[in-house]
Parts: sequence; C-alpha cells; structure tokens
Amino acid sequence: SKVFTILCFSLGRLGLDFVEEEVARGYSMPKKIINLFDLEELFEKNLPSPIAGYYKSGARDEITLKKNREIFNKYELLPKLLRDVSNIDTSVEILGQNLKNPIILAPVAMQQMAHEDGEIASAKGARSFGSAMTLSTSSNYSIEEVAGHNENLFFQLYFAKDRSITENMLKKTKEFGFKAIVFTADVPQLGTREGDERNNFKMPDHLSLGNFKGTILEKFDDRDGSSMNMHNEVLFDKSLTFEIIPWIKKVSGLPVLVKGILRPDDASLCFKHGADGVIISNHGGRQLDTATPTLNQIEPLRKEIGKDKLLIVDGGIRRGTDILKCIALGANAVQIGRPVLWGLNYKGKEGVELVLDILLKEFIETMILTGCRNLNEITRDLVRKT
Ligand code: FNR
Ligand code: LAC
Repeated sequence: SKVFTILCFSLGRLGLDFVEEEVARGYSMPKKIINLFDLEELFEKNLPSPIAGYYKSGARDEITLKKNREIFNKYELLPKLLRDVSNIDTSVEILGQNLKNPIILAPVAMQQMAHEDGEIASAKGARSFGSAMTLSTSSNYSIEEVAGHNENLFFQLYFAKDRSITENMLKKTKEFGFKAIVFTADVPQLGTREGDERNNFKMPDHLSLGNFKGTILEKFDDRDGSSMNMHNEVLFDKSLTFEIIPWIKKVSGLPVLVKGILRPDDASLCFKHGADGVIISNHGGRQLDTATPTLNQIEPLRKEIGKDKLLIVDGGIRRGTDILKCIALGANAVQIGRPVLWGLNYKGKEGVELVLDILLKEFIETMILTGCRNLNEITRDLVRKT
C-alpha cells in the first residue's frame, strides 16, 4: 500500500505539472510554439470541425487558397549586407496615423466562435503591439462594444440591401472613434465553401451578430447547406458600382479603403471615385476560386496608381519574409486574417499578442538579414521572381 501511495502521489505530481489552464478547459496540449503553423495545428485539434471548417475554408476547389501561400516561394530574396542594422524601425504612416508596424488585423467575421472574448480580445491584442484592427460588419461584438479597445480601429462594411441599415452602421463609426471604413467590394454574393454546405454550417445559437440585434441576421437559422447564406438575403447589394464610394465617405465622414481589388484598372477606378486606399485581396481564397494569388498583383497595381497612394495587401501572410516581400513589391502594409483566429482560440487576447509577437520578430529578423533599417529601405531589388 506504501508503493501504491507513492505511485498515486507521483502520478498526481505528474498531473499537476501538466495541468495548465489549457487542459483545465479541455484544450489539447500545445507543443512548443515557435511559429504560426504551430498555432494553426492546435486550432484544428481544438475547435469543433464545422467551425474550424468555416474558418479555414476557401471557395470550391480551394485553388486560390493554396496559391496564396505557394506564391511566396516563387519570390527569392537578394539580401544586402554590411548596412549597420543595429537599429530597426518598423513604423509606417497610414492615413496620417503613425503605426508601430505594418501588420493590420483583417476583418474576420464571428470571432466569438474562436474565443468568448472574440473581437474585443483581437482589438486589445492588436493594441498591445500598436497594430490597427478591422472590425467586420458580421462581428459578434458590435461597433459600440469594440469601440475604445484600440486607438486604430477600422470598420469593414458589408452593404445591406436595406440602405437604412448601412446608413445607421456608418453613422456610428466616427462617433465611436473608428478611423476608416474598409468597404469590401469582392462580395456581391458569398463564394461557395463546399465544406460548409456539406456540414450545414451554422453559427451556434448562443452567439449573435452584434451589429444586427433585433433583425433577422442576429441569429442564424437551420437550413440545408451553410447558414452563412442568410447573408446573401440581407447583405451584399449586387447593384453597387464605384459610384457608391463617395456616398460611403459622405455618410461615415471617414476615409474609405476598398478591399478585394485585384486588377490595376479597378484600383484606378477606386481612386477616381475618391477612395483613400486600396486593399489587394481575394478574400483569403473564399470568394472566386482560381482568382490570382494576391502577391502577384502588388507590383502591377503599384505601377498603375503611382508611389503615393495607400496600398495594402492580404492573403496567406504567415512569415516575416512574406511581409518583407509584400513591401518590397510596393505594399505599404499587410493584413492577417486566419492567424488571428488561431491566436484567439489559443488564449484570447494573449494569443493574439503571441501571433503578432511571432510575426513581428520574424519580420525584424528578415529586415536585419536583408540590410533594411526601416520600411523605406525595403526596395524592389530585394526580391526576384523565379
Ligand atoms: C474573412 N474575410 C472577411 N473579409 C471581410 O471583408 N469581411 C468579413 O467579414 C470577412 N470574414 C472572414 C471570415 C473568415 C473566417 C476568414 C478566413 C476571412 C477575409 C479577410 O478579411 C482576409 O481578406 C483574408 O482572411 C486574408 O487571408 P488570410 O490571412 O486568412 O490568408
Ligand atoms: C466570409 C465572409 C463573412 O468570408 O466574409 O465568411
């Protein structure tokens, strides 16, 4: 019985060593987290599969989703040496604000499915690193609830068919301290994510869409196929044209960035209609499958719009070298989408901080190793397409 007691005691100790917060809430044990893919792995193990499925999915055959990543390996770096890289400055000026780094949190819908603190945790996590955060129209926490948790909040606009809904959202943004509107142009209707159709994906009943309280979109219904398709019935006005940009600017009183642009001529049209910036994006491969990967489009768009216009890019950015390549090709800043969900699911605000910490450290390492002391020194000649 003495042996038994010792055995129990040792097992208990062993247990204690392993009982971290994560295990207490049924979270699969993390291996050592070095990079964003380690967090992605944990996320896939720990979330119910229809939810992880919605978050990770791309449209149809997911060709664009894959290409967004693969394209980064087609560009090689040509580092500059002996450039005194003892002081590195990652700051960038965007819309007249000095941001500490060029990483922006992309708008991502329904973040409470990843962690109960949802968009509030993202806003706070981003604030710890001086990063801007974009709140999705389809967020769980509302404009009012997220306001004040970060000095650089942008509001992403899905344009409701009932224009008074859009108008009410837009009028609130400036009042609640938001700094810009990100008008998403690549969703006249949702691209089909076939996994969500098979899983009958639905936002869990205990959650709601914060900006749609009291409307039909507050909760998702049960239906055959993805309940995200409810969005098609209420949001996504298919009749929109470039002429809507001045209206969005006027109603919000804020600068407007147009998201989802892939063509140089479309970028030009945005600026002709008064846009303050353009975000190159294929919606993380979730809209038009086989659309071109975003990295390819930076250089042609920059050439078309000239050197002074604001150009941001997203899609598959997971490494510090990815960020440097985007900037070298002509982007002012980059956005990350899914990695924020991985961080959120891991540890809420702290998890988002971990994502930014990993990415920023990698980016600074890349700057040092390529001889770049600040963002202006990240020039086109540092990358070669193979
Ligand atoms: C998105 N994205 C998106 N975009 C947008 O304008 N409004 C939105 O509500 C959403 N929602 C959303 C949900 C999920 C689960 C994902 C993965 C993406 C697109 C997002 O802003 C961004 O363009 C991509 O996520 C960038 O690609 P990566 O970083 O996810 O590869
Ligand atoms: C999505 C929408 C909400 O990609 O943007 O799921």
